[in-house]
Amino acid sequence: MSQDTTLESTTHVYVPRDSTALALGADEVARSIEREAADRGLGLQLVRNSSRGAFFLEPLVEVAMGSGRIGYGPVQAEDVPALFDAGFLSGGQHPLRLGPVDELPFLSAQQRFTFSRAGLTDPLSLEDYRAHGGLKGLERALGLSPEAIIEEVTASGLRGRGGAAFPTGIKWRTVLAAHGSEKYVVCNADEGDSGTFSDRMVMEGDPFMLIEGMTIAALAVGARKGYIYVRSEYPHAIDTLSRAIAAAQSAGVLGPKVLGSEHAFELEVRKAAGAYICGEETALLESIEGKRGVVRAKPPLPAVQGLFGKPTIINNVISLASVPFILAEGAAVYAGVGMGRSRGTLPLQLAGNIRRGGLFEIGFGMTLRELIDDVGGGTLNGRPVKAVQVGGPLGAYLHPDQFDVKLDYEAFAAIGAVLGHGGVVVFDDSVDLAKQARYAMEFCALESCGKCTPCRIGSTRGVEVIDRIRSGQDRARQVHLLRDLCETMVHGSLCAMGGMTPYPVLSALNHFPEDFGLAGELSDAA
Ligand SMILES: Cc1cc2nc3c(=O)[nH]c(=O)nc-3n(C[C@H](O)[C@H](O)[C@H](O)COP(=O)(O)O)c2cc1C
Ligand code: SF4
Repeated sequence: MSQDTTLESTTHVYVPRDSTALALGADEVARSIEREAADRGLGLQLVRNSSRGAFFLEPLVEVAMGSGRIGYGPVQAEDVPALFDAGFLSGGQHPLRLGPVDELPFLSAQQRFTFSRAGLTDPLSLEDYRAHGGLKGLERALGLSPEAIIEEVTASGLRGRGGAAFPTGIKWRTVLAAHGSEKYVVCNADEGDSGTFSDRMVMEGDPFMLIEGMTIAALAVGARKGYIYVRSEYPHAIDTLSRAIAAAQSAGVLGPKVLGSEHAFELEVRKAAGAYICGEETALLESIEGKRGVVRAKPPLPAVQGLFGKPTIINNVISLASVPFILAEGAAVYAGVGMGRSRGTLPLQLAGNIRRGGLFEIGFGMTLRELIDDVGGGTLNGRPVKAVQVGGPLGAYLHPDQFDVKLDYEAFAAIGAVLGHGGVVVFDDSVDLAKQARYAMEFCALESCGKCTPCRIGSTRGVEVIDRIRSGQDRARQVHLLRDLCETMVHGSLCAMGGMTPYPVLSALNHFPEDFGLAGELSDAA
């Protein structure tokens, strides 16, 4: 059956090809729909679309009606005959019928700038991409000077979505000003943070958006070559991106004449080395150069001396994927949502023990409580939420007393936490935060690149000290030692791996002292 979504002759049925949907049985559902339609002599166009990001409803099957799409989910292969019996091809009633997909509260409450095409398009159809607003940003950028492109990105207020929230426009300006016979654009798609999947969704679901964003970045600084460094555990993303790059090349979006212009740009996908530290930008550059992923001392910044010693833009997938919208709709539209210095939208990723897990893109400013309770619906098993870790494995554990914090970089910093890449992992009251603190130190010991002592040795000593606290050996002294060790790691580590491991450790200790056997002893310990 054709993948062409422009054909209108028969009913279009959409079954996502996103990894999460596949893991939940989407391929089996698609096969079952095709088989059942053939057996019943019914014609339909099956489109393998991207995911809407409402993972709690996957596999989400959508049927195109004149008035929009009607959703059914979560669908299993064995539900398919009954769906046909219920007349789902014309929107028939069935217990799995969800109604118009656009009106589902989880989706209609979002502000989708970056994920506006999620679930709507066939990820590998450039026609579909164009039909849904794709390439408008690049077309506009081709008519602008590098300075004007960078001015637009700067005015949007976009800050790096990989974790450090550094202003993207300033980074690009540094690369533009740097001298080099070659310049590079590198996309950090290592996405190692726990509970995160927004980069993967872009690469699998809307790969042309990333290609477009990187091409605009290349125009802004005069780069002719770009690399996408993709997490090795993302085989579908690697495959989809590779096919999208080939399609973009044949269509003249990439290649010696970008959209017929005088600008050349080509892209290469690199499979990552499978280490968390290779997501750190300088270790990532080492890895692309074929070396072990060891962190480089800064300065020089990658913007000045990056890949192969040349000026390099290195940005996260979401940062680069935000750029086509900014160029197409204008910086003011992007900057028009958000709060304070956190402008635009953040694609939050709800994971862990949560009823409605998935991707939720919204302007900065919602409270964490609204996100967890109203959007996420609390825990899946109905037990009380005890803690939430935001910002990946190096992010702080937040106590319910802190849930009124707004999702904003500065508001999080003010309570000793980070938003990072927007990963939100929810834990119920059965979690032991002392065990989680131990895990943070253990993770650091396993993933440390080994270049500096506070991280390499400190993390191993950290595990030992937490073990002594947990078993009640000389507890007050060991807590003091743990705090001392964390201070050394924060101030003495070369990069955020060792520098931020104390965030989960100390937040667990400070907000959940009872899990360390410290009930009532907090003031002694602090
Ligand atoms: C240990 C460690 C792991 C990191 N992993 C990632 C990652 O997987 N993806 C990412 O985009 N940034 C990661 N970063 C942040 C990058 O070093 C860098 O700040 C980012 O790629 C810059 O892009 P941005 O400005 O668009 O955020 C990591 C940083 C550290 C210290
Ligand atoms: S903090 Fe850890 S990961 Fe970072 S440079 Fe030092 S040893 Fe390497």
